[in-house]
Amino acid sequence: MMNDIKKVSVSKEKIEEILTRLGKEITKDYQGREPLFIGLLKGCNPFMVDLLKHIDLYCSLDYMDVSSYAGIKSTGNVRINHDLNTNVEGKDIIVVDDILDTGRTLSAVVSLLKARGAKTVKLCVLLNKPEGRVAAIEADYVGDLVPNEFVVGYGLDYNEKYRNLPFIGVLKEEVYSK
Ligand code: PRP
Repeated sequence: MMNDIKKVSVSKEKIEEILTRLGKEITKDYQGREPLFIGLLKGCNPFMVDLLKHIDLYCSLDYMDVSSYAGIKSTGNVRINHDLNTNVEGKDIIVVDDILDTGRTLSAVVSLLKARGAKTVKLCVLLNKPEGRVAAIEADYVGDLVPNEFVVGYGLDYNEKYRNLPFIGVLKEEVYSK
């Protein structure tokens, strides 16, 4: 698996720094509140799990499974495969995801949560790829910026593989041009 990686984009050490920083920011911003963290499967893991360890707040969590990708190209289709078990009405929500790319997924999720009566909805992403943006949406908490390269690892996949890499890496072209 490691042989398929051209270069490391965000190292394990950098990810640890990001988790510490975002954990502190969210803990400070949500003092006195009990946010609901909503992770978007499957890419939110392990980021969601590791981030929560850095949050010093009473909080709850839930997950949705929303898909918008086929292969490496965004299809623009957003499908809810698994919905929340939690009523979001009146809740302060932090949506957690691995990457904000075209923004189609997160904008659809934000609209849905607002329509269901969420009090506030903030977005926390490990990676932001601004060059990919199609929908008018930005994240409130961002781990790192990535250029317009196909990155995998730490939750991000290519055809369901590489999610278990402990860092973010760039795939060699020959892996996805076969
Ligand atoms: C990926 C990623 C984000 C979304 C970002 O999910 O986890 O949710 O695409 O892309 P966008 O900004 O262009 O909408 P995907 O649908 O591939 O599912 P996964 O989390 O199971 O990998």
